[in-house]
Amino acid sequence: MQIPVSSEAHPTASPNFVPEIEIGLLAQSASISPKFLYDPLGSHLFTAITLLPEYYPTNTEKNIFIQYQDQIAHAVGIGGTLIDLGAGNCEKAESFFSSLKPSNYLAIDFSVEYLQDALEKLAGKYPHILMQCIGMDFSKRLIIPDTIAKKQRTFFYPGSSIGNFSSAEALELLSQMKSQTQDGGLLIGVDLMKDDSVLMAAYDDPLKVTAAFNLNILRSINAHLGSNFRVEQFRHQVQVNHVENRVELYLEALEDLTVSWPGKSRIFKRGELIHTEHSHKYTIHSIQQLLKNAGFTTTQIWTDPKDYFAVIYAQ
Ligand code: AVI
Repeated sequence: MQIPVSSEAHPTASPNFVPEIEIGLLAQSASISPKFLYDPLGSHLFTAITLLPEYYPTNTEKNIFIQYQDQIAHAVGIGGTLIDLGAGNCEKAESFFSSLKPSNYLAIDFSVEYLQDALEKLAGKYPHILMQCIGMDFSKRLIIPDTIAKKQRTFFYPGSSIGNFSSAEALELLSQMKSQTQDGGLLIGVDLMKDDSVLMAAYDDPLKVTAAFNLNILRSINAHLGSNFRVEQFRHQVQVNHVENRVELYLEALEDLTVSWPGKSRIFKRGELIHTEHSHKYTIHSIQQLLKNAGFTTTQIWTDPKDYFAVIYAQ
C-alpha cells in the first residue's frame, strides 16, 4: 500500500541545531530544549517510561478512552478527518477508528520515515480510510495542507504533550489548531495537578528509567554539537514548581567540569543545573481558560476516578 507522504514542512536535510544548542548551553542558567530528549535511544526510553507503573498518565488516559469511548465518539461525530499530532506508532488514534469511523486519517510527526512504516501496516487493516502522513515540527508552526478538507477536522493531541510547552507556546499551538478547523474540534489529553509524591514517583522512578531518559540528552547533544559531555558527571534532578504548576527536569553537575565543542566551551560548577524539560500540570479551570483564550468556546471533559488526568473535546 502506497501512503501519500508530504514533508514540505520538514526538509530532508537535517536542520542545523548548533546555534540553538549553543545559546542554551552558554546562557547563565544553562538549558537544553526537550526536543533533544527524543533521539532514537531517547524515544525507546520514553516508550519504556510509559510502561512504568509509576508513570500514571499513559494508563490513566487509556482507561478514560476505553471507558468513555462512546461518549467521546458522540461528541466528536463520525466520518470526519482525524489529524493525529505526534502520531508515533499511531496506536492511540487506531483505538478510535472503530468508534469514530474516520473517512480520512492524517498522521503528523517529526520523523516521517517512522510514520510511514506505521501507516503502511494500518492501511492494510483499514482499507476504507484514506491515510496520509506529514513530517512536520508542528511545535514551530502547524500548517495543514489545503488538500485536506477543512470540514469535520478533529485534531487529536493525546498524552499531555501540551504540558511540555510554555503557556504562551501552548496558546499559540492551540490557536493554530482552532483556526484550521471549522465545524470540527480538538480531542486532547491533559495531565492534572496532583500530590508531589505521585509526581515525584512518576518523574523520578525507582528503576531510574526517567533518569536514563534525561541523561541521554547529553549524548544526543554530543552527537549534534561534537561536545564531550560525560553522563556520569551529572545526575537527574526533579523539582515540583507550585508557582508555575509544573514538574521541572534538570541535570545537576556532580563535580566542577568543563564541556568543550568545536570553537567553544562551558564551565559547570559542582551543583550547577542544566534545565531540560517542563511538564505543566493543569487544573480543569486553567485548561478551560487556555482553550477559551485559543478560541474554543465549548468543552466536554472526561476524567478518571482520582482526577489525575482529563480528556477534553473542545470546539
Ligand atoms: C511527552 N511528555 C508528555 C512527557 C511528560 O510527562 O511531560 C515527557 C516525560 N518526561 C519525563 N517523563 C515523561
